[in-house]
Formats: sequence, C-alpha cells, structure tokens
Amino acid sequence: MSDLTVIVLAAGGGTRMKSKTMKVLHPIGGRSMIGHVLHTVRGLQPTRIVAVVGTQREQVTAHIAAHDPDVAFAVQETQDGTGHAVRIAMDTLGPVEGTVLVAYGDTPLLRTESLRTFLDQHAGSGAVMSVLSGELADAGGYGRVIRNAEGELDRIVEHKDATEDERRVGEFNSGIAAYDAGFLAEVLPRIGNANAGGEYYLTDAVGLARADGHRVGVFKIDDVTETEGANDRAQLATLARKFNDRVLTEWMAAGVTVVDPASTWIDSDVTLAADVTLLPGVQLLGATSVAEDAVIGPDSTLKDCEVGAGARVVRTHAELAVIGPEANTGPFAYLRPGATLGRGAKAGAFVEIKNADLGEGAKVPHLSYIGDASIGEGSNIGAGSITANYDGVAKHRTVVGKHCRTGSDNVFVAPVTIGDGAVTGAGSTIRRDVPPGALAVTGGQQRHLEGWVFRKRPGTAAALAAEATVSGGGTGGGHSGSGERQSAPAHPEPAGGADA
Ligand code: UD1
Ligand code: CA
Repeated sequence: MSDLTVIVLAAGGGTRMKSKTMKVLHPIGGRSMIGHVLHTVRGLQPTRIVAVVGTQREQVTAHIAAHDPDVAFAVQETQDGTGHAVRIAMDTLGPVEGTVLVAYGDTPLLRTESLRTFLDQHAGSGAVMSVLSGELADAGGYGRVIRNAEGELDRIVEHKDATEDERRVGEFNSGIAAYDAGFLAEVLPRIGNANAGGEYYLTDAVGLARADGHRVGVFKIDDVTETEGANDRAQLATLARKFNDRVLTEWMAAGVTVVDPASTWIDSDVTLAADVTLLPGVQLLGATSVAEDAVIGPDSTLKDCEVGAGARVVRTHAELAVIGPEANTGPFAYLRPGATLGRGAKAGAFVEIKNADLGEGAKVPHLSYIGDASIGEGSNIGAGSITANYDGVAKHRTVVGKHCRTGSDNVFVAPVTIGDGAVTGAGSTIRRDVPPGALAVTGGQQRHLEGWVFRKRPGTAAALAAEATVSGGGTGGGHSGSGERQSAPAHPEPAGGADA
C-alpha cells in the first residue's frame, strides 16, 4: 500500500454506556473496542495512524499507547462533529500525501481484509473519496446513502436531517471512508455546521466533492455486522456474541471441537492446537494457549494459562497457571498464579494451588491447599493437606522431595522440607524438616478410655449400640471395668495417606 494514513475517531463520550469507562475502552473478546480497531487498521501497514481523542483523553491515550505505541494523537477539545475531528487530525499531522482512511473507534468487528478490499476499490475508481456503505431493511439512525438517477453517490444525509422518503432508504453510511489526502485537506475547511445537530459533518464532503464535479465512490460491504458500533451495553453484548461466534468458527475450521458454541467464549489472543476439545461452559481468556488433544471442560475458566498436550481440565478455575502435558485438574480445582503442574501431575477435587510446582506425576488428589511449595516428581500428597505458608508477616516455602507419600490431613508449617522418599503419618503437623527416607509422625499417641460412653452417656443411642455389640460377643472393650483403663498401640500408626 502506498502512503496510507489512518485516522481513528475516538473523541466522543459514549454517554449511553452509563460508565466511568470511556465507550471505546469497553472490551469485547478480551480486547477493548478501540484495541480491535487499531489491530485491524495496523494490519493494513499504514504509514501512520492518528487517534483523535477528547472526552477523558488521559484514560484513552494511556490505553492506546499501551496497545500500540506507534499511534499518534490529535486532541479535539470539544466534540463539534466528525468533520471537525478529522480537521484537527489533519492539522496535527501537517502535510499528508497519498490516501487517508477514516474509521471509528467503536466498530470492533471490522476486518483488515474488508478494509483492504475497500481501499483497492477506491484506488481503482479514480474517485477523490469513497464511502463504505452497507444495506439493511431498516437503517435505523445511520446516515443514508442517496444515489442519483445514474446510481452514483450524490450525498449522504444524516438520519436526523433526513425526510421520510430518505429514511426509507436501506443503504447507509458505515462511517468508513477513504480520501485523496489533498482533496481532504482542501474540503475540510469548507464544511459548515448548519444542520439539525449544529455539527460539522464529515459526510458533507460527499456533496461538496460532487458540486466540484469530482467522482465519489461508494462500495457496499458484504457483512454489515463488520461496521456495527456499540453505543450501549446491550449493543456491546450483541457485538461480543457476534465476535465470539466468529472466533469459534475460525477455531473450528482450524480443527478444534467446540461442543456447545453458545456457552463457549474465547478471547482474541488465545491460541489452540488442532484436536483440542472444548466441552460446554468453557471460557478461555487472555493469552491462554492449549496444546493438541487437551480436553477442557465442562465449566472451566482459564485466564492467561498454558495447557499441555493431552491434559484433562475439568471444572477448573485457573489464572496464570501452567498445566503440563497429560496433567489432570478438577473437578473443582482452583489454580492461582504460579501454579505449575508437570507432565501427568494432578490437582484433584477441591484442591487450591498457588505459586507451587508439581513435578512430573506428582499428585494432590483431594481437598488440599498447596501454596508457595514445590512437590517433587512422583510424590503424593494425602487428602486434606495444607501448606501453612504464611506466619502472619511473611510467606514461606514448603519443599516436598521426590516420591514422597504424605498422610491425610497433614499441615506443613513452612518453611519446611520433606526429604526424597519420606513418608508422613496421617494427621501430622510437620514443623521440622523430615530426612530422606524417614517416616514422620506427630501428635500424641491414641489413648482409649474404655467404657467412657457407658458411664458418661448412659442410655444414649451410642451407648445402646456399643452395648449391643459388647453383649453380642463383639470385639469391643467390655464395660465391666471400674477404673479408667487405657490402652495404647505398641507401634506408631502407619502412614495412612489417601492414595489415588
Ligand atoms: C456517523 C455518520 C453517519 C454514519 C454513522 C455510522 C457523520 C456526520 N455521520 O454518525 O453518516 O451512518 O456515523 O456509525 O459523520 N467523534 C469524534 N468527535 C466528534 C464527533 C464524533 O471523535 O466531534 C467520533 C465518535 O467518538 C465516534 C465517531 O466519531 O467514534 C462517530 O461519531 P457519532 O457521533 O457516533 O456519529 P453518528 O451520529 O453515529
Ligand atoms: Ca455512532
């Protein structure tokens, strides 16, 4: 493309959003509306892009600069109309050559290919300016395209200035227009504001060009949704749904199975391999990537996560987590930032993992919180275990070596290290480092105060049940003894870890 300048209008307030966030900053598919437009026009590889900002311009400028640092800005102090906005952009740019493309910041569904086609049509037409139009049964509040007897574009009339007859015209102005730069610079100062809105209408350039005897092009876009803008929250939701449908269609064409498109949402920057399967109720957000043969869902939300090949992610909420190849999560797993599951690792039912590495094949199968920890390869953490990682002032790490078996209901009071191959007993509170290969058990030994229920709870269901067993020749302790006989096992308890 020879010298191309793109002007993106984003100075209007968007009051119908009823939001403290500027309209063009509202997101669709994980990217702001203006972010989509800038991404689309950047695809044309223009010489320069200038954004016209006004309302809440600090917010908008900072956002745009973060998205695309090469965008220049023009400031429109008062929103006196699209003609005024483009004039300010041209004044800011100084001398411009080639073609100028004007687009709006609130049309997130616009595609680069459609703009390229339009620019090619414009270049081939010899017109000083061209308008991208669309056709609808009812063109609502859009400016109408009025053609002459020869079918050429004669003028654009704004909805509020249109007659009843003109309002019946279905062809509308999308707002996208291409101009010869010299013509645009020359025509802008001639646009007045004597109209229903008291605004400088950029669209008046059409009538002025025609009056000068210039040719003006008009090209219809195939898919009118591309030029749709969102002015309120309902339209935002409608556009988000349409955008999502487009994204899903593209991924399905690339070999991804989407079982229920209606309940599956995928952000713009997500990447998926072929043969990924998405079950109903899945949201893949941010920069999430999923490798081949992984199955996600049902009902899972992954934001900025990396999922390896063949992983199985069931009813999982995860953010900034890495789920390794063949790893398993859920049902009902919560993976927080820094959770890293190695190949074949598992974070099972009702398990929360934060800032912790699970080595290859390491498993945290049930009801546990593992934070600020590393669990070595092949180790199994017993059900109901907790890393006590916070002493009220600072966070500390728990390190579990390779091929350890920790018992159920353990508390690891960090900082603490469990050596390779070590075992811990059920219900242990591990406060000191466990040497490799050791069995660690904590807490008092189990005592029995025999007959306690018969003496202290006579006549209760518990007492009657015990009595029936005892008198029936069961193995339980009798209740004939008068003293508080106690018994304790001769050996420490076995590890008793839940292993699955
Ligand atoms: C405009 C067109 C109309 C077209 C419609 C398509 C004009 C006069 N009318 O109408 O023909 O059918 O878009 O959506 O151009 N903006 C500024 N500064 C301003 C005014 C607007 O930056 O002073 C920006 C807005 O933020 C918005 C865009 O320009 O991004 C369009 O402005 P808007 O007021 O929405 O124009 P419409 O009345 O919809
Ligand atoms: Ca509008």
